[in-house]
Amino acid sequence: TRQWRGVIEEYRELLEIPQDTPAVTLREGGTPLVASEWLSGLTGAQVHLKVEGDNPTGSFKDRGMTAAISVAKHEGAKAVVCASTGNTSASMAAYAAKAGLTPLVLVPEGKIAAGKMAQAIIHGGRVIMVRGNFDDCLAMARGLAAEYPVALVNSVNPVRLQGQKSAAFEICDMLGDAPDYHLLPVGNAGNISAYWLGYTQYLDLGRTTRRPVMRGFQAEGASPLVTGEPFPDPETKATAIRIGNPASWHLAEQAAKESEGRFAAVSDEQILAAQRELARRDGVFVEPASAAGIAGLLAELESGEDYTGSTVVITVTGHGLKDTATALEAFAGGGAGIVDTVVDADVHAAAKAAG
Ligand code: F0G
Repeated sequence: TRQWRGVIEEYRELLEIPQDTPAVTLREGGTPLVASEWLSGLTGAQVHLKVEGDNPTGSFKDRGMTAAISVAKHEGAKAVVCASTGNTSASMAAYAAKAGLTPLVLVPEGKIAAGKMAQAIIHGGRVIMVRGNFDDCLAMARGLAAEYPVALVNSVNPVRLQGQKSAAFEICDMLGDAPDYHLLPVGNAGNISAYWLGYTQYLDLGRTTRRPVMRGFQAEGASPLVTGEPFPDPETKATAIRIGNPASWHLAEQAAKESEGRFAAVSDEQILAAQRELARRDGVFVEPASAAGIAGLLAELESGEDYTGSTVVITVTGHGLKDTATALEAFAGGGAGIVDTVVDADVHAAAKAAG
């Protein structure tokens, strides 16, 4: 059996990048589509999870990053820059390391999960903490790229979306057609835009017969696509999607509109509850932001939405190990520490404590 070659080599001719670009790859993509018995049971639909935490750096960002770094390297860049809530910087640092480029990272001070920060640092990223939020960081990254010889690899770089759309191809390849519905978290809105590109391309190529209804979920405290207004001070425990003014606003709105889909907000409580239930029922541990699509589905069911008989894909965008602090804080018993039960080294004591 052959090894999965990574997003560029698997789908090269479908990606709008210079076709002679050598691939800088960590064999990203090819992530599992996992059936959720739990959510299928609740909805009467076939619900599948696209588990993007299985990518090399633990999030969907690797799909776009293989493309952006490959093209930047091919075009002679020596350094790359991004603004990030954590995952983009982790991914950029890894791919830049592989390509021999210098990674420069701008992140909002104190709002990055520790796992992501560790990734950026261990791969050699020059990490600059900014007194401001993601939106401020993105404005700075754009400014740096305009004035200095450093390539911008945020999703405002269209090459990123070219790589990211591969997730839609994979889903269609696995299901044999596009699903009826696609639900996912939305922050800077690159991912939903990329999925729509991918689904549209497969339909145009005649590889599918339809495109899904796109439903994007934002955290209540950072939900500009729901309210229609930028959030000057976005706030949510789901730090990955703590974004007040998404760069791909227009593309994302277009995706929702053309698919007869929509955006909705979920509370931090709903997000954390969905994260926990997904971990306990399906065995899939995702970071808080990644559970927004699950929280969205659960909220819709509560309000009477009917998915019976349909095929639903929910993207879970990043691995739970990225942010263990939030999981421990929210779910460890007693609040005293990691575990709330300590016993002597004795079988019966353990049995008693386990109940
Ligand atoms: N889920 C996770 C885990 C993310 O890291 C992000 C975005 C999203 C969802 C939202 O995707 O921005 O394409 O709408 N993270 C970016 C970052 C902003 O810097 O890592 P989006």
